[in-house]
Amino acid sequence: MASTAAFGFKEPSLIRTQAYIDGKWVDAKDGGVIKVTNPATAEELGTVPELGLDETKQAIAAASEAFKTWSKTTPKQRHDILMKFYALMQEHQDDLARLITLENGKPLAEAKGEHAYSASFIESGRVAEEAVRTYGEVIPSPFPQLRNVVIKQPIGMVLSPHRAILTPWNFPSAMITRKLGAALAAGCTAVIKPPSETPFSALALVELATRAGVPPGVINVVTTQANVSAVGREMCENTAVKKVSFTGSTPVAKMLYGLAASTLKKVSIEAGGNAPFIVFDDADIDAAVAGAIVCKFRGTGQTCVCANRIYVQSSVYADFASRLAEKVAAFKVGNGLDENTTHGPLIHDRAIEKVQRHVDDALAKGAQLIHGGKRLPGPGSFFAPTVLSDVPPDALVNKEETFGPLAALTRFETEEEVIKLANDTPVGLAGYFYSRDVGRVWRVAEALEVGMVGTNTGLISQAVIPFGGVKESGLGREGGHGIEEYMNVKFIAFGGL
Ligand code: SIN
Repeated sequence: MASTAAFGFKEPSLIRTQAYIDGKWVDAKDGGVIKVTNPATAEELGTVPELGLDETKQAIAAASEAFKTWSKTTPKQRHDILMKFYALMQEHQDDLARLITLENGKPLAEAKGEHAYSASFIESGRVAEEAVRTYGEVIPSPFPQLRNVVIKQPIGMVLSPHRAILTPWNFPSAMITRKLGAALAAGCTAVIKPPSETPFSALALVELATRAGVPPGVINVVTTQANVSAVGREMCENTAVKKVSFTGSTPVAKMLYGLAASTLKKVSIEAGGNAPFIVFDDADIDAAVAGAIVCKFRGTGQTCVCANRIYVQSSVYADFASRLAEKVAAFKVGNGLDENTTHGPLIHDRAIEKVQRHVDDALAKGAQLIHGGKRLPGPGSFFAPTVLSDVPPDALVNKEETFGPLAALTRFETEEEVIKLANDTPVGLAGYFYSRDVGRVWRVAEALEVGMVGTNTGLISQAVIPFGGVKESGLGREGGHGIEEYMNVKFIAFGGL
């Protein structure tokens, strides 16, 4: 394992290499570990414990016990602890952003952006502040002898007070706080299964939450890789767990949803996308190119809301394609700690193989290579930012999410045609389009079968929005409407007046 000095932290005590159960930092009973690698250098960053079923059960039991007292704290008490947590995140922002770059690979400037996004889920993103606004309702009754009252209670209130959180590696920090902030604010306790590729950010956040006053057992972290199936099954099937919140791929989401059905557990799922990005002929082309760059290449193409299919109307196609390719050619791909780097590596070589498969398939089906198209040399997992033109609708990249730096351009003629193309997919997370025609803006925004639409913008992510999808992209909403996902509505009829 690399020494903690190799992390270059101002405060090395934020580097936690053990899992966290019931207020204690723990190793695996059998001593097993998971190696964590820096994707820019292929060097080992460190290890975390490989926990199994026994430790997962312990974590669930600890969260259940802690729920008895945490759920009884007032919203104001929880708000104050969350605001302390937020202040600590801000105090340590340099270390936390550096950690995101070390384990995920994204450039430091982008990691700082993720850190700010992550902290906003704890601060205002309707989370800490929303904790004190979990209002109920009084409903006038048709019966004179009754009064109807609706209250909201943390979801784990009855037997088993907590929720399980399973998060992805593409936002090592923000996907933890997006779920954890809402859960804590609502009065729930949590067991987190962070991604095995990027566990250190989750562990550092838990260290800070503990310093902020979150009591033992309220947050637990189970690090696992080889045992992930058994751990995931336990989280979904254990009757003590009242909710499962998952962000990740659609196939895994379907499997977890099936397992959670055994106990009719509530689930929140943010699964895969295959976002269309449409440029109409009345668009501001400079703005559309800038939007496509941020939308397609944020996180080197590794976000669920990244543009995956870029449809451009015929009369502006050539202009858009050449301007986009010019911008992509100016990217500086490299180690995210280098200040000149604009785009980092992919998370691992499996991700590279998928991008290459999509490029090769599109070329075999008649697409033209305008830029990039292959792996870059070096020990890290780097793929050249790629632009393909004249990609046919039946190419793999137009059918499934690439999750990599591949901009695939397809030409279209009419609004009707492109809406059909855009909606021809089983998933529907985000969709984007550029047009200056206000009638078209309304028409297309309403017609796209997605949970989130960006019109004349390539960036929609903010803590305050209802984040989530339709079709096979998921269930429920996080962020702006997130706290509701962690509360049960209870109706009380008051009689005997
Ligand atoms: C994701 O990729 O799952 C989340 C993206 C975002 O929050 O912007």
